[in-house]
Amino acid sequence: MTGGWWRDAVIYQVYLRSFADGTGDGVGDLAGLRGKLPYLAGLGVDALWITPWYPSPMADGGYDVADYRDIDPRFGTLADAGALLDEAHRHGLRVIVDIVPNHTSDRHPWFRAALAAGPGSPEREWYVFRDEPNDWRSVFGGPAWSRVPDGQWYLHLFDAAQPDLNWDHPDVRAEFLDVLRFWLDRGVDGFRIDVAHGLIKDPALPDLGLDHEGLVEPPDRSDHPHWDRPGVHEIFRSWRELARHYGEDRVFVAEAWVDSPQRLARYVRPDELHTAFNFDFLRCPWDAARLRSVIDSSVAALSAVDAPATWVLSNHDVTRHVTRYGGGLPRARAALLLMLALPGGAYLYQGEELGLAEVEDLPEEVLQDPTWERSGHTRRGRDGCRVPLPWSGAAPPFGFSTGTPWLPQPAHWAEQTVAAQENDPDSTLWLYRDALRIRKEHPAFGDGGLSWMDSPPEVLAFRREPGVVCVVNLGPVPVALPPHRKVLLASEPGDPGGELAPDSAVWLSA
Ligand code: NOJ
Repeated sequence: MTGGWWRDAVIYQVYLRSFADGTGDGVGDLAGLRGKLPYLAGLGVDALWITPWYPSPMADGGYDVADYRDIDPRFGTLADAGALLDEAHRHGLRVIVDIVPNHTSDRHPWFRAALAAGPGSPEREWYVFRDEPNDWRSVFGGPAWSRVPDGQWYLHLFDAAQPDLNWDHPDVRAEFLDVLRFWLDRGVDGFRIDVAHGLIKDPALPDLGLDHEGLVEPPDRSDHPHWDRPGVHEIFRSWRELARHYGEDRVFVAEAWVDSPQRLARYVRPDELHTAFNFDFLRCPWDAARLRSVIDSSVAALSAVDAPATWVLSNHDVTRHVTRYGGGLPRARAALLLMLALPGGAYLYQGEELGLAEVEDLPEEVLQDPTWERSGHTRRGRDGCRVPLPWSGAAPPFGFSTGTPWLPQPAHWAEQTVAAQENDPDSTLWLYRDALRIRKEHPAFGDGGLSWMDSPPEVLAFRREPGVVCVVNLGPVPVALPPHRKVLLASEPGDPGGELAPDSAVWLSA
């Protein structure tokens, strides 16, 4: 196995508009993020992944890009981005940016040109225009096609403001290689590739045979006409080739929702991308047997292509895991020790280090996720995990902004601000700091293998060499700890004293 910083990196996701607001308009920005770099360095993460920062009408929180070579004025300027990269690097933090190749904004100059040029024009070839739509559905709800005034239809697998590009067109391929170069030249350490599994469509655009209630998850089929088509891989090989010219330290991470770890492994073959999010792990319920099976199948499939496994519990698209696991904070804290003890790298989502739960009671009138409108008000969408972070103070805006945060924060977050947790050694913030420090210091963590130990069915217990054992109790009764020399870290405060409580985890030196 060859080294490479990404093979065991812990990467912290900054959802920019909700992280920290430096300008007082209620929206997080680069100035705010820059001011928090000492906090992030102190947390002990290796790198940041910053969600899209490009000029955007924000129909989908910036995943609708109008210009891939600039910064949205609400976030700052290109000069601010350069300063942020420099300063992050000085703090020892690498920076990965989001690249959104599946679709542009409908305000992108290419889409405007395609509309203006009319049916049959070369400009329409950059996108997927047809005279008749098929039955495909938008991930956000409703049909995946919208009609333009001249009668043609264009494909959008997401919002109508996010027209899908035609990746069979050489101009599209050349343009994105150039955009990658633009940011690599400015010093970014890598890219998170949005909807990496969606770029290639079956040119025949066959109907899926869906009823009109809608497609949410990719159906389980090996020849899907718009997800995970084999043609995506040659695109990523050309991207890897480009990155190689910048040295072996620039990395790609795929957002690819696919059917199996084997399909995922195809994205991280040696001449393709470096890592991919492990959504099987993220989607797995709090169940020992199922988690063990996901861990084993992930490690096996990825090591077969010499790629490191990665682990993730939350991001800006899913219900925060404090809420999702149904067990409150103890399960989330135990899950952290499980995740950080597993071989490979890990992704953290901003606010999980504060133990934040999903905000489930946002009033309907503040909801911004396009899912809410497109689903005919049947799915509230993802705003509940995107509420601006609480930094300090006893009431909103909790130091996030001097203005009004773009989504309201719950009053009870007063107890979970960074400032409130700072002086409490039992806080979740300190659990994250301690776990990341121990993980960095101890040679057993990170890249490598694991060996399972005998344990009751509702317990996960494994060894990492040299000399670390991780035990997680997912059952309803306490269990005895295996023999050990000392407890390195426990998810619950206090000495576990030979027994591990339900919904808790420990790292042992053994
Ligand atoms: C995945 C992103 O994480 C999500 O937030 C976005 O809505 C879709 N891709 C479309 O770009």
